[in-house]
Amino acid sequence: MPLLSTVAVAIAGLYLVYEIFRRLFLDYGDDVPTSIGIPLINDPAITDVPQFHIKMLEKARATGHSVRRSVMPWKPWRSTVYVGHPQVLREIYVGKDWEAFDRPIKSQDPSQLYHAGGLILVPNGKNWRGARELFGKTFANTTIKTYMPIFADKLAVLIDLIGKEAKKNPSGFDIQAFYSRYTFDMITRLSFGEEMDVQHDFDSKYMKAWDDVLSISVIWQLGANVAGNWAFPGFLKAKHQASYKVITKIILDGLANARAAKAAGAKTKNTRFSIVDDMLTHELPEFMEKDENEIVKQLMTLLFAGHDTTAATMSFLTYYLSLNPEWRKLIRDEVNAAVKPSDALTLETVESFKYIGAAIKETLRHHPAAPVGTGRQMNRDLTVTYADKNGASRVANFKKGDIVFTDIYTTQMTQEFWNKPVDVWDPSRWLDDPLGGASSPFAFAPFGNGARKCLGERLALALTRLTLCEILRKYDIQRADDPTGKFKFVQNFTGTIKAENGVGVKLVPV
Ligand code: HEM
Repeated sequence: MPLLSTVAVAIAGLYLVYEIFRRLFLDYGDDVPTSIGIPLINDPAITDVPQFHIKMLEKARATGHSVRRSVMPWKPWRSTVYVGHPQVLREIYVGKDWEAFDRPIKSQDPSQLYHAGGLILVPNGKNWRGARELFGKTFANTTIKTYMPIFADKLAVLIDLIGKEAKKNPSGFDIQAFYSRYTFDMITRLSFGEEMDVQHDFDSKYMKAWDDVLSISVIWQLGANVAGNWAFPGFLKAKHQASYKVITKIILDGLANARAAKAAGAKTKNTRFSIVDDMLTHELPEFMEKDENEIVKQLMTLLFAGHDTTAATMSFLTYYLSLNPEWRKLIRDEVNAAVKPSDALTLETVESFKYIGAAIKETLRHHPAAPVGTGRQMNRDLTVTYADKNGASRVANFKKGDIVFTDIYTTQMTQEFWNKPVDVWDPSRWLDDPLGGASSPFAFAPFGNGARKCLGERLALALTRLTLCEILRKYDIQRADDPTGKFKFVQNFTGTIKAENGVGVKLVPV
């Protein structure tokens, strides 16, 4: 009896503690389902980390809620809200209170600031506006067209290398590895004016250093988020800093060359422009003028934002094309009808092609390279309303300090927001409908939307169009022979996504 009553008292005590905790910290007084989330245990479980975005979608499908909230028991004063509903996304992107959804997430400091501390993580306000205005000019359509000679050079190298690889491996090879070196070369040349030529260097120390910066910062971020910066071991920090210096050096060299070229009155040493040259033709915002480190962060952020994302998009598109001969033919026929085999493709021509455009959009719907956006943190309380699938009005209360993720992947893959089956790769949905059959313009946002929309959207789209059209002019892209399943298609998440086992293709000359 005494044992039973002790157990009963313990259970009652625990329930009381939970009830107090629930009322104090889990009751947001709104319609967003709230659960206790322990990173690596259930939110996500350690085995689910690489599939994070897919697990989020599965949860949304299972519960019917595309907005949900999670609270860490030892940081109950701040929740994390995952928003996969177009009406709430609209408020985040372009609502009158969009600036309440701020950057950076404080616990990312400093783990992510080294490589993403440029535009991506600068808080809303004066410095961000200054930098955005500066780079906005550089990423305008007209300026992007002046980069065509750089695109053409790098693309010629890619075509040459994959052609040789196809001869060496007629049963197939991983094209993602080639895209990855190609976009690294492209973005470093475009952004910093430096020729790294990693396309020819399979063991490039620069790519190794870059991969180290990113992978160590993920561990750092995770530790800092769960426990604090003290949880990040010194030896890893030293490795991170050494690799960071390798990349910083490339940027400082580019900056020095651009300054020298400007002083000498030429546009660049080889008369071809880069983003850093363009940047120096404008007045820099005060915070960048005063601190060279801020310039480095801005330029490095372009590499972070542009390299993996664009390579992943090309890889996923190549994967789908390898499965869909009719779309390969549609795209190739459209290119061949417009451009003679002896003529070079131009950005203007590829921009006008509808089939490649539809295939890219559909691929970005299935695989938005940054599936939960960049993360925001509330700088004040805010209430947003939205309608559930039965049309009933729902309320989401955001509190100051809450972390907010734009769950783009969930929105793009939730049937409720689309008129055709969402799980099918069907580019035709985009052919006669700019919304692709979505119920809202905010249901498809692989580049985000509003004032903080991706700066490099035009660049990424132009490069992807140009690259895939050029490959399809020369080759039929078929699935690699894969008897052992080494190219089994798996998409993995580390903030951005990529094909974990690469994309195995056979390139057959046409
Ligand atoms: C297919 C490739 C790409 C995808 C899917 C992508 C996606 C995104 C997304 C989702 C955001 C966050 C938007 C938001 O939170 O509202 C973003 C921001 C950003 N992206 Fe991209 N991106 C791509 C390529 C690029 C490229 C090539 C560059 C530049 C070289 C770039 C530069 C940026 C920058 C600077 C920001 C931060 C903008 C700001 O906060 O003001 N991105 N991108």
